[in-house]
Amino acid sequence: MKSALSDLAFFGGPAAFDQPLLVGRPNRIDRARLYERLDRALDSQWLSNGGPLVREFEERVAGLAGVRHAVATCNATAGLQLLAHAAGLTGEVIMPSMTFAATPHALRWIGLTPVFADIDPDTGNLDPDQVAAAVTPRTSAVVGVHLWGRPCAADQLRKVADEHGLRLYFDAAHALGCAVDGRPAGSLGDAEVFSFHATKAVNAFEGGAVVTDDADLAARIRALHNFGFDLPGGSPAGGTNAKMSEAAAAMGLTSLDAFPEVIDRNRRNHAAYREHLADLPGVLVADHDRHGLNNHQYVIVEIDEATTGIHRDLVMEVLKAEGVHTRAYFSPGCHELEPYRGQPHAPLPHTERLAARVLSLPTGTAIGDDDIRRVADLLRLCATRGRELTARHRDTAPAPLAAPQTSTPTIGRSR
Ligand SMILES: Cc1ncc(COP(=O)(O)O)c(C=O)c1O
Repeated sequence: MKSALSDLAFFGGPAAFDQPLLVGRPNRIDRARLYERLDRALDSQWLSNGGPLVREFEERVAGLAGVRHAVATCNATAGLQLLAHAAGLTGEVIMPSMTFAATPHALRWIGLTPVFADIDPDTGNLDPDQVAAAVTPRTSAVVGVHLWGRPCAADQLRKVADEHGLRLYFDAAHALGCAVDGRPAGSLGDAEVFSFHATKAVNAFEGGAVVTDDADLAARIRALHNFGFDLPGGSPAGGTNAKMSEAAAAMGLTSLDAFPEVIDRNRRNHAAYREHLADLPGVLVADHDRHGLNNHQYVIVEIDEATTGIHRDLVMEVLKAEGVHTRAYFSPGCHELEPYRGQPHAPLPHTERLAARVLSLPTGTAIGDDDIRRVADLLRLCATRGRELTARHRDTAPAPLAAPQTSTPTIGRSR
């Protein structure tokens, strides 16, 4: 255990971890089952276009989401675009800035205007009052994001949406297996979109799914994600190709098989972090359980610079030197990213405050109890010696810290 600042790799000591710990490392799966499914696909020579593995995957995802329809897609970004297009959205769409760039980018790419509203500081999710304040005659929908798997305040958002005649959708990229008051994420909006990117609790290498109870909407999305064929009357935009392949579905199904074990492991990891860091002033491990049932894929800590004397960005650099690759989910808020930067937006004080403090720690099946204790010890050293550490960094290496939100969660490599 390191106790002196000079022990830190950041100041020239040996790194604590030989094998790097990464946020978003893929969860373990049963490879034999994956290969068996891939063999089945290869033997049948049915590799795409709604094959049996994709259909089975869709059924299981719809079941977890508590809805009647799921359309599997090549990723969640395309899923959001298909949904917005199939629903005929126009003009402005209200969403949080505290999200991954994919949420606004997906809609902007198809000509819609993302409008950022502030979050409730308690949950990190869209504040319904701020949504109401952001509505204009051009608004057609609200897209909430179940940040870190915490379900949005769906009933209050629904009230605002109904009052203004808006559709209500959710970016549920983080939220498979999450629920509030017994209502699963996926069933809270008119439609929702999951991500099965490699870093998610359930992965299909790359993948997504739009889930809904609306049969007509599901049919439109299904047609549009296959070039618009089979869409009665067609679509002015034609269609696109956003299908999930059988290989991706084989991975998705095998990953779903492991999901209960992943949730269990994540839950225990989260509890261990909370226990190790419970009495550390200025370091708060976010408690997802207060906000419903969570898959615990995101262990979030908030670093309070006023108390610890150290900024989150410097903590990230110190941990990185030790081999602990954390991520800042999500920093900066999307309103500070291109192409939104410099555009007028409502005040977003809660987004900006949270974005400056959050840090996502490694979890999942690739991390052990001892790793967690050692990461927590490093965080403790950062927080208890934060002022000294900051001063020493300033004196020795006044380099800029931490890159902005530029990539999705990575597996060692940005994409
Ligand atoms: C909140 C959020 N929305 C959307 C996405 C995009 O998902 P995908 O990579 O499947 O397109 C991500 C990806 O990490 C995300 O975190």
